[in-house]
Amino acid sequence: MSTNHHSVELAVESAATPAPFYRSVGDEADVFRAAARRGLPVLLKGPTGCGKTRFVEAMAHELGRELITVAGHEDMTSADLVGRFLLKGGETIWVDGPLSRAVRQGAICYLDEIVEARQDTTVVIHPLADHRRELPVDRLGTTLSAAPGFQLVISYNPGYQSILKNIKESTRQRFVAIELDFPPADIEVEVVAHEAGIDRRTAGALVRLGNAIRGLQGSPLREASSTRMLILAGGLIAEGLPVRSAVQAAIVRALSDDPDIVRALGELADGVLDVT
Ligand SMILES: Nc1ncnc2c1ncn2[C@@H]1O[C@H](COP(=O)(O)OP(=O)(O)O)[C@@H](O)[C@H]1O
Ligand SMILES: [Mg+2]
Repeated sequence: MSTNHHSVELAVESAATPAPFYRSVGDEADVFRAAARRGLPVLLKGPTGCGKTRFVEAMAHELGRELITVAGHEDMTSADLVGRFLLKGGETIWVDGPLSRAVRQGAICYLDEIVEARQDTTVVIHPLADHRRELPVDRLGTTLSAAPGFQLVISYNPGYQSILKNIKESTRQRFVAIELDFPPADIEVEVVAHEAGIDRRTAGALVRLGNAIRGLQGSPLREASSTRMLILAGGLIAEGLPVRSAVQAAIVRALSDDPDIVRALGELADGVLDVT
């Protein structure tokens, strides 16, 4: 009876939170599942806007684990991850940071693009990432053991300065590395059509443009036209904007501030999209 009751609850739960839409590109989901079963930390590499965050959301949902995401920034300290004492009504209380919460709850802790984080933030992840699976909380004078289900996931963009130089080689070797990139054209068309709510023909044109920009030789652009940008343009088209305006706003002008480059990209876009 109790198992019956339990399964009803699960059904209600999953009906309330539909699975995030994620289209697999290679064996990334299998690798993640295997790493999750072993409690191994995962290193997700890939350019900005290629689907890293969405992938982790989809995996957390599938595994039925809570996902606690921390967006990296250059001022992030270990206290931001682990926790700190706060004054509340004249009393000093301890407040767990997101990493400590994930460790206690057995959640997936996703450190999203923590490239820029300070050195001291990488220090706290060492004993969590290796076989010890523990988090020293110096300010409390304790060490937390990670609950079953806890998993550390770190993403970074290999095009930028790498956080990896801050991570000890022995820790780094414990990470299972998954490399994502912009999906192949047929999958990206499906993704852009689905996410933006546009037809496949229009999505196909956006993906052709995306790939043309990605293929530019000796590109002066800091970022390539990402899947996210194509979806953004598609969303503007779905809102009734002409294709050309949508592409100018979401892709061309977003990629560069240099007037010459913007003009050249605009011409490339007009050619690929066949709108003049
Ligand atoms: N393989 C995919 N399946 C489904 N959606 C995807 C996929 N790749 C990219 N996306 C879409 O692209 C958007 C940007 O991806 P995101 O996960 O935010 O990128 P990243 O975290 O790598 O910067 C997502 O919101 C999602 O709509
Ligand atoms: Mg992300």
